[in-house]
Parts: sequence; structure tokens; C-alpha cells
Amino acid sequence: MSKRTIFLTTALPYANGNFHLGHIMEYIQADIWSRHQRMSGNTVHFVGADDAHGAPIMISAQKQGVTPQEYVAKISAGRSQYLDAFLIKFDHWHSTDSKENIKLSQEFYRRLKKAGLIYTKEIEQFYDPVQNMFLADRFIKGTCPKCGAEDQYGDSCEKCGAVYLPTELINPYSALSGTKPVLKKSKHFFFKLSDPACVEFLRKWTVGKAGDGTPHLQPEVIAKTDEWLSEDSQLNDWDISRDAPYFGIEIPDEPGKYFYVWLDAPIGYLASLMSYCEKKNIDFTALLESATTEQIHIIGKDIVYFHTLFWPAMLKFTGKPFRTPEHVWVHGFVTLDGRKMSKSRGHILDPLVYVDLKMDPEWLRYYFAFKMNSNVEDLDFTKSDFLQRINSDLVGKYVNIASRAAGFLVKRFGGKVSGSAINESALIGEIKKQAPYIQECYNGREYGKALRKVIELTDKTNEYIDEEKPWDLAKQEGSEVKLQNVCSIALEAFRLLTLYLKPVLPRTAQRVEEFLGCGELNWSGVDRSLDSSTTVLPFKHLMARVTQEQLDQLYAISAEKSKPIQPDKEKDTEKPENTEMVFEPVAPNISFDDFSKVDMRVAKIIDCKKVEKSRKLLQLTVDMGEGKTRNIFSGIATFYKPEDLIGKLTVIVANLEPRKMMGSFSEGMLLSASDGSDNHGAGLFILEPGKGAKPGMKLH
Ligand code: 2FM
Ligand code: ZN
Repeated sequence: MSKRTIFLTTALPYANGNFHLGHIMEYIQADIWSRHQRMSGNTVHFVGADDAHGAPIMISAQKQGVTPQEYVAKISAGRSQYLDAFLIKFDHWHSTDSKENIKLSQEFYRRLKKAGLIYTKEIEQFYDPVQNMFLADRFIKGTCPKCGAEDQYGDSCEKCGAVYLPTELINPYSALSGTKPVLKKSKHFFFKLSDPACVEFLRKWTVGKAGDGTPHLQPEVIAKTDEWLSEDSQLNDWDISRDAPYFGIEIPDEPGKYFYVWLDAPIGYLASLMSYCEKKNIDFTALLESATTEQIHIIGKDIVYFHTLFWPAMLKFTGKPFRTPEHVWVHGFVTLDGRKMSKSRGHILDPLVYVDLKMDPEWLRYYFAFKMNSNVEDLDFTKSDFLQRINSDLVGKYVNIASRAAGFLVKRFGGKVSGSAINESALIGEIKKQAPYIQECYNGREYGKALRKVIELTDKTNEYIDEEKPWDLAKQEGSEVKLQNVCSIALEAFRLLTLYLKPVLPRTAQRVEEFLGCGELNWSGVDRSLDSSTTVLPFKHLMARVTQEQLDQLYAISAEKSKPIQPDKEKDTEKPENTEMVFEPVAPNISFDDFSKVDMRVAKIIDCKKVEKSRKLLQLTVDMGEGKTRNIFSGIATFYKPEDLIGKLTVIVANLEPRKMMGSFSEGMLLSASDGSDNHGAGLFILEPGKGAKPGMKLH
């Protein structure tokens, strides 16, 4: 088979946070594939980069009082430590905030404009008059127009799932300054995805095949793109510009206008490749233009639209030397013990903690690989399963083979193997026969299938050792030849199994290469065997067992680290500034009966905490003397710190219909005093009864 040249990427992580387990899972998937290809003699250029631009990064930098460039550089500097720790071997790591990306993004823009696929249109958007900037949807919050949930983002409600325009929010406010945003017009640039030429191209490309006859996309992904590209759903054009202030790439000849981060992010794949080519003296243009090059992107299921519609269309209509991808391979998310990970609930595993605890990276690589396939499926990390898989498969079955056989060979035969016994062995023949299947599994990203086969062969090898009983042979006189033969066969089996595991366990494989003295293992090594020229060295420890304590610590420290920042550490600027009191007109009279329907009670606040993802809400546990506590949500977080409220007596409306909020019920309403302005500009104050009042007392 002719050799392949592959340009491989994984999604570029935003440079505003550390790697999470999902990143590491994706990189491990790609790294295993890349190592497998290299072991097959193929050339892989595996590149990554930080996705540096966008409003969130600009704002995070602002909050830290540094420039966005400084902010991104700091994140970037911490990357290699963790990539190395998990044995993830990118050839190059770059940034979208780079000269190559500026050059390429502006070139893409010029060419797409020339192709008639860029146009401008005036749009109306929310603008923060205090921060003097247009607000991205995630920086606008307000009350959901559908279900009334407070503090929802500008594009969708986390509570009821409704999707809406930011302008539909009730009482919108800027998440940056807390002020009410105003609508302002601005010229934006659009990529004409709805252009018939684009649509026609995408309809073909999404169901098309690479040169080797394999489909560009997985069947589940095609089902999605088919839906998006169907006759009755019109593709929306794509807003690719943002107004200053913005951390991004300037649009040529358009002062104050920048490319939206998602425009230059995928171009960052090419920028990283370009920078790598320069470093390695590879002809970037020739590499991309070569008919035998393959361009493959591995991504998560949340960014399919960008990678299967916008990106191929941009590449196609920008033209040579750029090429449309051979494949976009999509994977699912990592879940933890059957549930979605959640920082706020501390239900999380932090790969950085894993590294800090000095847990073996190959455990995680093996565990992920065991659960990986080529489908768009979520991958569950299950504590008990992890422990069992590593200790039973890797240590108990695989490593055990070497420790059982090497000792006799070294002590009794000077480490010399018997080549003829290996050549005649049925077990070795059987193991070798499975090599094409295992290679095909790796190539098709069916790592779980590959590893199940390896474990099956490992079991067979252990059965062989059990049957031949080298420990008995060692005691019997006249059984030397047999003993040497059995140990040689077991070690050759171990060499082959190590070769089969090498894409997943590169470090162990390297140790085994040294210990067996067999040279670098790669797929062509299946056709060779250990022979009498080989001297096996004394067996050295290859892999430890994972312990329950290690896992417990990993869980506990990850949860601890993910705790939300305490309010007293937050900036006081979150509080709306005090303004003059606005007197609210008194409401129309009501009857005494009407008033007596409202049951107000004295209650003691026994616990209070901030609600994650809500700027306004506090969650209180109150006792009003009824023998049980009540849960109450109250929109007072910008005025009170939870610790200042605990222990206080206050007043609640006790007979208000319970209201579903933040996934549970608010069983009452905390009373507070504020003026008539929208943002309680003159402050907000809870009510405290006079001295001597007791929980449960009624207000008359
Ligand atoms: O979703 C994300 O994390 C983006 N930073 C991925 C970008 S992938 C590519 F387009 F750069
Ligand atoms: Zn809602």
C-alpha cells in the first residue's frame, strides 16, 4: 500500500482556561490514531493551537488587568506540561493570534469577497453604554420570555430550553456592568452561506467520500447535515464581524471591524501547519496541494455546524492551495459515573489534578481507548470500571506475562531466546494472524475493538503459560530446553502484544523495547520475531496498580478545585451603584380580606449560598418553626453576601404557591425593601423583626 501523508488537527481550545477532561480525551483519541499511522510508516503532521480571540478572553484579560496577549501567553505557556504528561505528541502548538493566522484570515476574506460571498448589512444589537461595547449574547442576561426564569443568557434559557433573540429578554441587563443595554445599529459583515453555489457544494461534500472511498463524515453527522441542508430549511448567512473593542483580527480596510473569533479559529489549523512547515522546512503550499495529502479534523459534537458547513465552504470558495477536508470526525462528550460533569456540583474530574497526583497517564489513555469507537457517542468514566480495567487487564494480564517468563530466561539462559521454538509456535502464529484486524480497528478509530482483541490474545498467552507451567519445568531435571522454549514463546507473545498496544501505551512500549532489546516496535515488526541474537534484560517494573485511594483523591481534589469563587472574593463593582431614591407610587387600595390572604411569617435564615450561574440569586434555607426547613430563592445576591445573612431573622411570605426555580422549588418569598427603579438603585434591604420575635410568628 502506498504511504499516506496526513494533516491532522484537534479542535483548538479557547485560551481562557486549562484543559478539561474532554480536551484530553479528544487529544488522546487523535494521538493514538497518529501514533498508529506512524507505526504503519505513514507521515502525520499533527498540529494544534490556542484559540486566542473573542470577547470572553478580552474581558477575562481586562478583569486581570493584563493585555489579552499577556493573558493568552500565560495560558499557552502552561499547555505543553499537560500534553507531555499525557504523552500527547503534537508536532506543533501555535496560536490563532499569530502572524500566520492574520495573513491567512485576511487572505480568506479577500478571496471570499472577490467570489461574491461576503456582504455587509446594518444590524441592531444590544450595546452596553457603560462599557462602551456591543454585547455578545452571553454577556446579556435577563428574564426568560417563555418561562420567566431570571438571569438567563441572551440566546437561550437554561431552565426551559427556549431559544430567543436577546431583544426578547424581559428586563435585559449587561452581565458586564449590570446596566440596561441600549439598542444600537452597526454595519456587520456576512458570509453568504445561503448562496446557491455554497448550498450545492455542501449538499455534495457532506455526503461525499475521500480519495480512498471512505465517507467524509460519519453517518450520524450526515443525518444532521442532511437536516440542515434539506429543501425546506433555509441556511442562514453567517455574521463574521464584530465591532471594536474586540480581541481579534482586523478586517482589511474596515477600521474598527474585526473578524468574529469563529472565522479565524479554523483558519488557525492552517496557521499552525504553516508555522510548523516553516520550522521544518516543508513546502506548505505543495503539501496542501498534493493529491495524496489528507486533511483530517477531529472535533466534539458541539461544533459540528462550524466544521461541516462553514469551514468546508470557506475552504472551497477560497480555493487553492487550500483544500476541503478528507474527514471531519466527531466524538461525543465525557461523562462521569453516568452523569454529565458539573463544576458547580463538584461532579468533575480534573486532568490537571490527575497529573499532579502523579497518576499514570497510560491508565487514562488505556481506559479511554478501551471505551472509544468511531461513533458520535459519549464516553463514560466510571470509577469502579476504571480500577478494574487497569488492574485486571493491564497489570494482571498483560504485564504479568513478562514478569512470569523473563526471570527464568535471564537467570537460566543468560537472556537468550530460542528462535526456532518461536517460529514453530501455534500461539505466536495465532497472535500474528490478528495484526491486520487490529491495525484496521486502529485505523477506523475502533480502539475498543482493538483492545478487546489484544486482551483476548493476552488471555490465551496466560493460558499457555498456565498449561506449560514454567515454574514446574524449572524444578525438573532435563526440562531446560522446554523451559527456554516456553519462556521464549511467552516473551515473543509479549513483544507482539506490546506492539499492538503501542499506540495507546507508548511509554510502556518504549520500556519493553529496551528490556527485550528488540529495537523500535512498529507494524512491520509483526513479520519479525525475537531470535537468538536477542538478549533479554532482567525484568523491570512496568506498571503499578491503580488504588482506590488514588481515585478517591482524584475525585475529592477535583471537586474541591471546581468550587465556585466565594462572593467576598468577587469584585464589589458587581453591585449597582447607589443612586437617588425613586419613589414608587402607592398601589390601589385593597380590602382587609385581600390583605389577610397573605400569610407573612418571621423566619430564621439557617443557611444561605450563592447560586452558580446566577448573578442575582441566593439560595436560602429558612426555619419558620413548622418542624421542617424551607428552601427559598431570592434575587438579592448583588446586595448581600451569604455569610452575612446566616443566623438572621427575617420576614417571608409563607403561603405563596411554590415556584420551580434552578431545578428545585422556592417555597416562599423573602421580603425586602427597595425603591421604584429597575435595578434597585437606592439599594435593597431585607426586613428584620424587632428584638424578641421568634421564627413562625405571623405578621398582622
Ligand atoms: O469550541 C471551542 O472550544 C472552540 N475554541 C473550538 C475551535 S475549533 C477550530 F475551529 F479552531
Ligand atoms: Zn425559560
